[in-house]
Amino acid sequence: MDDCTVIQGETLRILQSLEDASADALITDPPYSSGGMYRGDRAMSTTDSKYTQSEQRGTHPDFGGDNRDQRSWGYWTALWLSECVRIVKPGGYLLCFVDWRQLSTLTDAFQAGGAVWRGLVPWDKGGGARAPHTGYFRHQCEYIVWGSVGALPKCGHGGPWSGCLRYPVKPRDKFHQAGKPVELMRELVKIVPPGGTVLDCFAGSGTTGIAAMLEGRRSVLIEREPPYIEIIRRRLDAARQGVEADHEEPEQPDGLEAAASRPEGDGLTSDGAPA
Ligand SMILES: C[S@@+](CC[C@H](N)C(=O)[O-])C[C@H]1O[C@@H](n2cnc3c(N)ncnc32)[C@H](O)[C@@H]1O
Repeated sequence: MDDCTVIQGETLRILQSLEDASADALITDPPYSSGGMYRGDRAMSTTDSKYTQSEQRGTHPDFGGDNRDQRSWGYWTALWLSECVRIVKPGGYLLCFVDWRQLSTLTDAFQAGGAVWRGLVPWDKGGGARAPHTGYFRHQCEYIVWGSVGALPKCGHGGPWSGCLRYPVKPRDKFHQAGKPVELMRELVKIVPPGGTVLDCFAGSGTTGIAAMLEGRRSVLIEREPPYIEIIRRRLDAARQGVEADHEEPEQPDGLEAAASRPEGDGLTSDGAPA
């Protein structure tokens, strides 16, 4: 199956143009706007230094929408989620990634947007995730807040789904500063019946669409940044040919290739989350 619709533009405007009950699920990974404790943090012009460890800076294009403070991020999230609640069919799943800092704001905004909040699935990135310094617990997990549009009927095609997902971030598999592993997303898209449609309104490098294609699901991807639209198209073309896309990497500083080929767990894997 190869049915992936890619739409470039501002998500709120595009969501407003999509039909009621036209998707089976939302699976999305918005900008977290996390870690901006000071005005200067929120005014940063690039996301690279925030999301990428120093060895890998410059590898992926920057992205916008990551500089709201916590309250306005919550209001904005309720706005786009309420559109998604309209677009996803009654009984459909809603899954949204978040980090520890924005977790409580997301669970409020999720419900303010009209979703029924049903739980939390940790995504465990493993021992390669960063720890700000020796006294810290590693920021090893991100979280998937999940729920449904109204009542959740019994699932006819699978489940119960795993309540904790462990997939490391591998540099070769990462096409975005905050890119998610394809294997993780393949697990998640299985909540939709074969042939069903997944909506991702913050598509980034299109990992949700790649996973959907590999699992025989349809997808609708929305992304604002043109360089990422190019990356999505390149990845989809490669997936159609049954191969993985190559990284079109900019000039790499000395030592980067060596860092990218080191095994997981050496503390150098970029985890896509601010410390
Ligand atoms: C965290 S990234 C998603 C990464 C994705 N899961 C992947 O694996 O590549 C969020 C994406 O949302 C996009 N974005 C942010 N605000 C947006 C908006 N208002 N409309 C459309 N896209 C937006 C950003 O450009 C960014 O690429």
